[in-house]
Amino acid sequence: MSFEARPAAARDALRFRFRGRDVALRHFSPRATVLDWLREDMGAKGTKEGCAEGDCGACTVVLARLKGGRLAYEPFNACILLLGQLDGAELITVEDLAQGGELHPLQQAMVDWHASQCGFCTPGIVMSLFAAYHSGGPQTYASLCDQLAGNLCRCTGYRPILAAALDLCDGAPADRFAATAGDRAAALAALADERDVFVGDEAAFFAAPASLDSLAALYQRFPDATLLGGATDVGLWITKQLRDLRRIIWLGRVKGLDAVGETADGALSFGAMISLSDAMPKLAAIHPDLGELMRRFGSIQVRASGTVGGNIANGSPIGDLAPALIALGGRVVLRKGGKTRALPLENFFIAYGKQDREPGEFVLAVEAPRLAEGQHYRAFKVSKRFDEDISAVMLAIRVDLDGRRIKGARIACGGMAATPKRAANAERALAGASLDDPPDWRAAVEAIGRDFTPLTDMRATAAYRSAVAANLLKKALIEISGSAAPTRIGMLHAAE
Ligand SMILES: Cc1cc2nc3c(=O)[nH]c(=O)nc-3n(C[C@H](O)[C@H](O)[C@H](O)COP(=O)(O)OP(=O)(O)OC[C@H]3O[C@@H](n4cnc5c(N)ncnc54)[C@H](O)[C@@H]3O)c2cc1C
Ligand code: FES
Ligand code: FES
Repeated sequence: MSFEARPAAARDALRFRFRGRDVALRHFSPRATVLDWLREDMGAKGTKEGCAEGDCGACTVVLARLKGGRLAYEPFNACILLLGQLDGAELITVEDLAQGGELHPLQQAMVDWHASQCGFCTPGIVMSLFAAYHSGGPQTYASLCDQLAGNLCRCTGYRPILAAALDLCDGAPADRFAATAGDRAAALAALADERDVFVGDEAAFFAAPASLDSLAALYQRFPDATLLGGATDVGLWITKQLRDLRRIIWLGRVKGLDAVGETADGALSFGAMISLSDAMPKLAAIHPDLGELMRRFGSIQVRASGTVGGNIANGSPIGDLAPALIALGGRVVLRKGGKTRALPLENFFIAYGKQDREPGEFVLAVEAPRLAEGQHYRAFKVSKRFDEDISAVMLAIRVDLDGRRIKGARIACGGMAATPKRAANAERALAGASLDDPPDWRAAVEAIGRDFTPLTDMRATAAYRSAVAANLLKKALIEISGSAAPTRIGMLHAAE
C-alpha cells in the first residue's frame, strides 16, 4: 500500500454496532453484501433471500443511525446493501427483536392477526414495520401501504398484516429498543469519527473518504474505482451481473455531501449523497407532483438507500429524477480534483451509457430551481405497476405563462429515447399558444411524436409509448388551463 493511496490517518477497519457490540472488520471483500455476511459469516438465517435485486423485501434489515441528534430507524434491502455501507450504523435484524423467549409486540400482533402463512416474507415485513413502529409518529393505513410497498407477500394477503401494523404503530414505541435508545445513541456517537476509511490494499479496497478533498484526491488516484452511493444499482451489478468489483469508493461518509442548500439564484441544491427519502419532502415542496413521483420511486427501502446523485450519475434513460428536473431547468454540478463545473442537466446525458463526466470526476450536487410566478409544472410517471416499478414513460413539463398565453415550455421525457431528453419540437410548437384555445395545442401534441423514436421492450411497445407521451402532454395542458382538476391515484390512496 503506497502512502498516496491511503491517507496516513485513514482507519483500516469498518466499524458498526451489532447485537449490542462494536464490530470492527479489517478483512472483507469490497463487494460483500450485508445479506451474505449475515447468512454465511454470522449464520443468521432469519433474513431471507428472495429476488436478490431489491424488489421483494424478504431481506429487509433496519439500520439505526444518528440523524439530527436522534436515532433514525430505516429499512434497507440487505441483498443489495454492501457490507461497507454499515460503517457508523447499528444493524438490527429479525433475530434481535424477540427476547428471552418473548416475541416483540409487532411479532405478537402478526401472530394475533394471523398475518403469516408460509412465512417467507414475514421477517422482512416485520422489519419494515419495525422501522415504521420507531418512525416517531403514528402511522395511517395509507402510510403503512407505502411502508409495505417493497415487501412482497404472495400468500397471506395484506389485510391482516395492515391490521396488525395499525394496532401497534401509534408513534409511541414501547420495546427494549425504545428503552435503550439513549445508550445506543451514545454508542453510535462514540463510533463517529471524521477519519477516512480504507480497508484493503491497492488491488482491492473498500474506501470511504470523510471529506470532499479526500474523495477528490482518491478518485483522481483511482479513476477506475466504482463510486458507490446507495448501491441500489451497483448492488445488482454484483448480485445479477456477478461483476467482480475490486475498488469501491463509498460516498456515504463524505461530510456535507448529503446536505441541501440554496444557490445564489434561489434554486435548491441537493448534495449528491442525499437519500431519495430525505430529498422527498424538499422536492414535494417545489410541486406536489414531485412528491407523488418520489412516493412511487422504488420502495421505502430503495428510497432510504438510493441517492439523488446516483439517480442522475447512472445515466439511465428511465430514471425518474432526470426528466422531472430537466423540465424544471435543473443543473448538475461536477467536481474533479479542485475544480467544479455546472451544466444544464439535459447536457449531461450524451448518449446511452455515456455522460459528460471525465475520469476522476464525480457528481457533487444536483440543483432544482423553484417555480417562479407564472410558471406551472406537471410530472407524470406511467408504469405497469403503481408501486415499485420503473417508468415505461415519464413526462414532465414546465409552462411559463404571460397571462393565458404560453411564453415558453420545457418538456422532458424518460423512457422515450436512449437518454432523458427534451421534446424540442413540441416545446417550439407550444410557444405562443393560448391556454384557452385547445386547437392551439394540437401542433405540440403532434410534434412530440417527431421528438422521439422510442423502443419496444418488456415495459411497453413503441406505439404505446408515443401515444402515452402525447396524451400526457395533453393532460398537462388541460390541467394547467384549469379546465379539469388534477387526478392522481395517490389522491384516492391518501383519502382512504
Ligand atoms: C427495486 C428497485 C426499484 C427502483 N425503482 C426506481 C424508480 O422507481 N425510479 C428510478 O428512477 N430508479 C429506480 N431504481 C434505480 C435506483 O434505485 C436509482 O437509480 C437510484 O437513485 C440510484 O442511486 P444509488 O445511490 O443507489 O446509486 P448507486 O447504485 O450507488 O450508483 C449508481 C451509479 O451512479 C454512480 N454514482 C453514484 N453516485 C455518484 C456520484 N456522486 N458521482 C458520480 N457517480 C456516482 C455509480 O458509480 C453507479 O454507476 C430502482 C432500483 C431498484 C433496485
Ligand atoms: S431478496 Fe428480494 S429485496 Fe432482497
Ligand atoms: S406469508 Fe407466504 S409470502 Fe407472505
